[in-house]
Amino acid sequence: MKLPEEIARRKTFAIISHPDAGKTTLTEKFLLFGGAIQTAGAVKNNKIRKGATSDFMEIERQRGISVATSVMGFEYNGKRVNILDTPGHKDFAEDTFRTLTAVDSVILVVDSVKGVEEQTRKLMEVCRMRSTPVIIFVNKMDREGKDPFELLDELEKELTINLRPLTWPISQGKSFQGVYNIYREELNLFEADKIGIAGRKAHIPDLEDKSLYEYIDREFAEKLKEDKELLDTVYEDFDKNLYLDGLLAPVFFGSAINNFGVKELLETFLEIAPSPLPRPAKPREVEPAEKEMTGFIFKIHANLDPNHRDRIAFLRICSGRFERNKFYYHARLGKKLRFTNPTTFMANEKTLTEEAWPGDVVGLFDNGNLKIGDTLTTGETIQYKGIPSFSPEIFREVLNQDPFKTKQLDKGIRQLSEEGVAQLFIQQPGNRKIIGTVGELQFDVIQFRLLHEYGAKCGYRHLNYFKALWITCDNQQELDRFIHRKTSNIAWDKENKPVFLADTQWALKSAKEMFPSIAFHTTSDHKMELPSVV
Ligand code: G4P
Repeated sequence: MKLPEEIARRKTFAIISHPDAGKTTLTEKFLLFGGAIQTAGAVKNNKIRKGATSDFMEIERQRGISVATSVMGFEYNGKRVNILDTPGHKDFAEDTFRTLTAVDSVILVVDSVKGVEEQTRKLMEVCRMRSTPVIIFVNKMDREGKDPFELLDELEKELTINLRPLTWPISQGKSFQGVYNIYREELNLFEADKIGIAGRKAHIPDLEDKSLYEYIDREFAEKLKEDKELLDTVYEDFDKNLYLDGLLAPVFFGSAINNFGVKELLETFLEIAPSPLPRPAKPREVEPAEKEMTGFIFKIHANLDPNHRDRIAFLRICSGRFERNKFYYHARLGKKLRFTNPTTFMANEKTLTEEAWPGDVVGLFDNGNLKIGDTLTTGETIQYKGIPSFSPEIFREVLNQDPFKTKQLDKGIRQLSEEGVAQLFIQQPGNRKIIGTVGELQFDVIQFRLLHEYGAKCGYRHLNYFKALWITCDNQQELDRFIHRKTSNIAWDKENKPVFLADTQWALKSAKEMFPSIAFHTTSDHKMELPSVV
């Protein structure tokens, strides 16, 4: 098939949510529709079980599963669907943020009872930062949740995005009747059904049509008509272009566990969601239909077998056709690399692939050449943008507990930070290693993996920094003056960029006042800020 057709039929996206809103359940239902899995429960265990085992053992278990579920690909109605998995646990938020750089759109799942939660807010910020098109699925309508109008208000306010409901619930909880599909002018009746595709359907373009009463009781019908009238006055008609620009989120209501509203969601998603788009890169934007292959690494997974050092790097193809055994140019190292065993993913199965297209994700076996953010091309020097490091929230100094294993410790920490497990900052004098993470769990993971994979024993010293902020200034002398003045709070990131480790919010404020020409950034790429972090 030709490149433009392959691009047009690809939809690469992520399902994201605050833990427990129903991301796994929805993913699984999509895979069942796509015939990629046969039984419910196949994706279920890809989440951190609460209280089952000690946390880091649980993470090791999860790490094993998540290699298999990193990309879940399937075919549906002639489309190639690639769902990129994101870890549910909040301590792995940064992993999720990085995965979001590799998708073309997202489906955000919200629990109808809980509404907007902490992770919902953060994930939406990352989507907004990148203008990613978002569809919202309000889940668990079979429970007594919030009033849908109030919920929409909350979503709009807290997520700072305009909304347009495309389906509308008729009651909820025990008396949930189903949804009216505004987009398809169809009544979709709810039947609790965990296995099949729930719901009878009736085409009712005009709600004044008496046939409505044949399907739902008068009280529900009247309420639906009232709601629909209100919706039509409050919300503009759905504008697909605003959605594609990331300015408007269509909203669907349903119940993932009951398979209700899921098929409509999937089919509308496939109809409106973007196929791979042009991507910004240095020094130029790249069109997916360009003949030459380009792509970037957004995730690295160490092999689970500690005796083998090889890793799987996940390459998102952005343009052209990727071919097995062909030499590709690694711009950062300036060298050519060839991949003899590239794999693609069909749900839980990894298969050797001969070729892949824009929007696809290919797993590349690597023994240390690839880092997160690296670009591969057929020869041109291009660097894909927009995979910044985010300011970590918890900091500890690494203490070497076995002087004979210093080399192993250095290597281990460097490799783990390349894999994105944590961020490494170096502080002078003395080459002090400071690790920054967004969650406590990573420290256990690092300690465990350093010992088991590198034979290096480490301890930690708690550091009470408030934030790590990347600093820049148009005037180099002024930057040097700041660095000199604040030496004990300055460290250097993996690219040797200076970072200010602020002790408190107050210390940051006073540093900003004292040095007004210094800019403090919450990400390593200061064109991509997370506005609410500081
Ligand atoms: P997550 O990946 O976002 O963390 O959520 P997950 O799909 O695991 O769902 C979290 C819980 O919510 C699960 O219950 C799941 O069965 C339930 N759930 C998902 N969709 C719906 C829905 O539409 N209605 C209702 N009432 N519940 C729903 P659990 O008890 O934690 O797990 P399990 O024992 O059911 O597996």
